[in-house]
Amino acid sequence: MDSAEQALAYAEADFNASNSLFIQLLQRLGTGPLKDAVALDIGCGPADICIRFLRAYPGASCDALDGSQPMLDLARTALDALPGIASRCRLICDTIPSRQLPSAHYDLVLSNSLLHHLPDPKVLWQTIRETGKPGAPVLVMDLMRPASAAWAEALVATYADGEPEILRTDFRNSLFAAFEPKEVTEQLSEAGLSCLEVAVVSDRHLAVMGRLPA
Ligand SMILES: C[S@@+](CC[C@H](N)C(=O)[O-])C[C@H]1O[C@@H](n2cnc3c(N)ncnc32)[C@H](O)[C@@H]1O
Repeated sequence: MDSAEQALAYAEADFNASNSLFIQLLQRLGTGPLKDAVALDIGCGPADICIRFLRAYPGASCDALDGSQPMLDLARTALDALPGIASRCRLICDTIPSRQLPSAHYDLVLSNSLLHHLPDPKVLWQTIRETGKPGAPVLVMDLMRPASAAWAEALVATYADGEPEILRTDFRNSLFAAFEPKEVTEQLSEAGLSCLEVAVVSDRHLAVMGRLPA
């Protein structure tokens, strides 16, 4: 996702179904209105999740971090068209683990579709643990590895039909790179985050939800 071409293809793809699901899951977490809350979105990409979050929670603000400048340029363009939202969103160009993120600072930690990109998934769980306030709600959603290559192809045919080849390839590679729920449960246990629950939330997504230790 580092090239401008990949970032643009990603930003132009239709993720409405999965990004809406993300906000529905957040609402089910029962966070309340999040007035004056500061959220962190890790691996924000073109900021669609962040924008949906800030629309749904008008009293909240969000720090949105991503390691790709082309992605953040697209995020900047999307935000600039929405002044009421842009003023509540701060973009940070860095990769996790990041020294730019303050410790025990965030009221809510979010991440969508990042976990499978990380060579070492531990860095996501450590970053969440270190940057969230005690008891902060957490929502991480990601693709889930299909049980077989044939099932992966069926998902590509169903959900990336008609998309440019670069996106179909990204989607296929992402499905194979993704984790099974059992593996994520093990990662959470190793990170001391067994308090978070792993749930299968669609035919291709899993979610990690709950609150950080108090
Ligand atoms: C599939 S995109 C998801 C973007 C966004 N969260 C969304 O749901 O549309 C994954 C993003 O994670 C970013 N990324 C990958 N590794 C990262 C790291 N170590 N630290 C921060 N961002 C990273 C990529 O640049 C990319 O924008």
